[in-house]
Amino acid sequence: MYCEFFGFHEKPFNVTPDTRYLYLSPLHQGVLDTLRYGIHERKGFMLLTGEVGTGKTLSLRALLNELGDTVETSLILNPQLSRLELIKTINRDFGKDLKRNSFKEQIDCLNQFVLQSGNEGRNALVIIDEAQNLSMEALEMTRLLSNLETETHKLLQILLVGQPELYGKLATQEMRQLRQRIQIHCQLRPLDLDQTEHYITFRIQKAGPDSRVAFEKSAVARIFHRSKGTPRLINTLCDFCLVASYLKGSRVITRSLVDEAFHETPEYTIAL
Ligand SMILES: Nc1ncnc2c1ncn2[C@@H]1O[C@H](COP(=O)(O)OP(=O)(O)OP(=O)(O)O)[C@@H](O)[C@H]1O
Ligand SMILES: [Mg+2]
Repeated sequence: MYCEFFGFHEKPFNVTPDTRYLYLSPLHQGVLDTLRYGIHERKGFMLLTGEVGTGKTLSLRALLNELGDTVETSLILNPQLSRLELIKTINRDFGKDLKRNSFKEQIDCLNQFVLQSGNEGRNALVIIDEAQNLSMEALEMTRLLSNLETETHKLLQILLVGQPELYGKLATQEMRQLRQRIQIHCQLRPLDLDQTEHYITFRIQKAGPDSRVAFEKSAVARIFHRSKGTPRLINTLCDFCLVASYLKGSRVITRSLVDEAFHETPEYTIAL
């Protein structure tokens, strides 16, 4: 509703993993560089962790967009699956929709697929988002999958992406074999104050290069303080600020407006 008023062609602070809006903080850039390297070097197990809303899913979507034809990918977004369901989903993503149901047949099929891809010079990569929700059984299966290899390199690479709760699962005695196989571990953290300012400016610019809105310096500091630099919370708060400002007929976001808006956000009202 406020887009016309501020001169945006779309809302600047949607909470969807839209890669056009990816702001590359040094940390986000570092994570992408590291994962790119890991994939290129055919590392078997890779891990990306970060608190809720720090940009894990968005980053891996950006990564997926840039991987060309040399990588076969399977992206699992909801891993609350049994071992059998998980391997079936992976095979389906790789274009192998098997009617046969046995676990062994599914593994054999995957094995064949990754061998063939390897022979043709392509990596095969399975990305599991929300990996903290994997059952221990499914997590253990990912280790078995990473055993698909030739004498010289891994045939299947696994990237686990999840919230810090994933550490709890990986730290158990039964997961020590998997733990030892992790060759790349990168972490996303919230933005600092300067990055928060750049982030807000970047998204505003994207949504309307000629838009007419100003966030006062003290307002940005307040947004940082309230959100602790977590991008999803910054988005929610900025969106509330824009609505409140529009309703007042003002194009300047002030510190007190941020506080007013914050008290309307679910982050505040529900957490109370
Ligand atoms: N670097 C970034 N640039 C632009 N937007 C970002 C960035 N990081 C996060 N966001 C925004 O924050 C929101 C949350 O990001 P994302 O879904 O990637 O978080 P997540 O780490 O996967 O969270 P969760 O643990 O809840 O799954 C998205 O709307 C996204 O647009
Ligand atoms: Mg996510």
